[in-house]
Amino acid sequence: MISRALFIVAAFAAAFYPTCKAQGYHLAQDFSGPDFFQGFRYNVSDRDWNNFGNVHFISQSDAEQKHMTFVDLNGRAIISVDNTTDGRTDGNFGRDTVYLVSNNPVNFGSLVVFDAVHIPFGCSVWPALFTQGHVWPEEGEIDIIENVNLATQNQYALHTAISSGTCLKQSNDGQTGKTTNGNCTVVPEQDINTGCVVQDASSKSFGKGFADSGGGVFSMLWDAAGVSLWFFERSSIPPNIDTAPDPSSWPTPSAFYPADSCDPSTAFGPQFLTLYIDICGAFAGAPELWPTSGCASAAVSKCDDLVQDPANYNNAYWMINYLRVFESDSSSSSSSSPSRSGSSPSGTASSGSVSAGTGTSSTTGSPGTGGSANQSSAIQNIPIVAYSIVFSSALILVLI
Ligand SMILES: *[C@@H]1O[C@H](CO)[C@@H](O)[C@H](O)[C@H]1NC(C)=O
Ligand SMILES: *[C@@H]1O[C@H](CO)[C@@H](O)[C@H](O)[C@H]1NC(C)=O
Ligand SMILES: *[C@@H]1O[C@H](CO)[C@@H](O)[C@H](O)[C@H]1NC(C)=O
Ligand SMILES: *[C@@H]1O[C@H](CO)[C@@H](O)[C@H](O)[C@H]1NC(C)=O
Repeated sequence: MISRALFIVAAFAAAFYPTCKAQGYHLAQDFSGPDFFQGFRYNVSDRDWNNFGNVHFISQSDAEQKHMTFVDLNGRAIISVDNTTDGRTDGNFGRDTVYLVSNNPVNFGSLVVFDAVHIPFGCSVWPALFTQGHVWPEEGEIDIIENVNLATQNQYALHTAISSGTCLKQSNDGQTGKTTNGNCTVVPEQDINTGCVVQDASSKSFGKGFADSGGGVFSMLWDAAGVSLWFFERSSIPPNIDTAPDPSSWPTPSAFYPADSCDPSTAFGPQFLTLYIDICGAFAGAPELWPTSGCASAAVSKCDDLVQDPANYNNAYWMINYLRVFESDSSSSSSSSPSRSGSSPSGTASSGSVSAGTGTSSTTGSPGTGGSANQSSAIQNIPIVAYSIVFSSALILVLI
């Protein structure tokens, strides 16, 4: 009996070994070095229609001229808020900042890897790295890095539409972080936009804590298992994460949104990477959060009181080693060579439709450009899952 079972195992192993190996990933989009900004367009807007921050999102040429976006001598991309203009004599002052949106989308089955040494922080500062579909919220949003003011723990979140069905994240199963809001559904018309939020356990995952420990790496995997998000401190970054990442060998993620409580293939359309810095607005400046932000004082009763003084923005910058998108080797849509992007005209995108966008406590996105691409429907991982089921059944045979 046992030898027969062993034979079955051997047969399966021989037949399926190549597919049973850890799933490989190859580079599909690379934002790094001198070309970092080529894969993005600057979403120019004189007002922050989505989140009501006290900012102007400026053009590429203005940002370069003001030295707010550039690649430094170490090849790191710097994205910053204007910290030189003194607005103290201007009662309607809005501070210049930058809103980058990727030219090409991240597709279902992809792994995003982001290495930074500094995330913008400070009282009134609100940075975010997230992905969103062209049609929001119907094509969803995945927040990879986001928090405000003096926070040192990052927050992850999904934002999904009612039409996507139930999207929940109720427990802490499968993650090291803590779920602080369990309902992913947003209803912009009703000002419901918190999303399902998970807080990272590490106080080195955001703000001063992140900067003081040399930064680290965030990663987001969007595939048939769901959406998984990791944070690695610099001292514990998995090997080859920048060239040949193998998430199957990584530890428990910080946040995990399993497919059985939020269908990852229908809740999200093709996702565009968005990297920006806001000031005050619906989250950093929320009146209900401000008193406990650590930023309030008699002289600073509200967030807006800080905006005019440029000295408040010396830590409001991203310093990025790279941002890469990997696609699964088994993905049918995989292309063989990484695109150095920059295909669509650099420069300005218009501000999109004015109508949408009523943010409450998190990043809202309501891009104006109509999305033409449909959701990717390939469920690439299923064959591998099936093989491992067969494989483990064979092992069970050995044991009985
Ligand atoms: C989640 O939020 C949506 C929008 O407010 C609501 O319609 C739905 O009933 C909520 N689901 C649960 C399980 O609370
Ligand atoms: C603006 O911030 C950068 C980064 O912290 C800093 O190097 C620079 O000195 C600041 N500029 C001024 C005018 O303080
Ligand atoms: C560009 O910025 C405007 C104004 O804040 C916003 O309404 C729009 O959604 C943004 N577009 C994208 C693609 O993020
Ligand atoms: C997207 O899918 C819908 C429904 O399957 C279809 O009606 C529509 O034409 C598709 N759009 C594109 C751009 O392929």
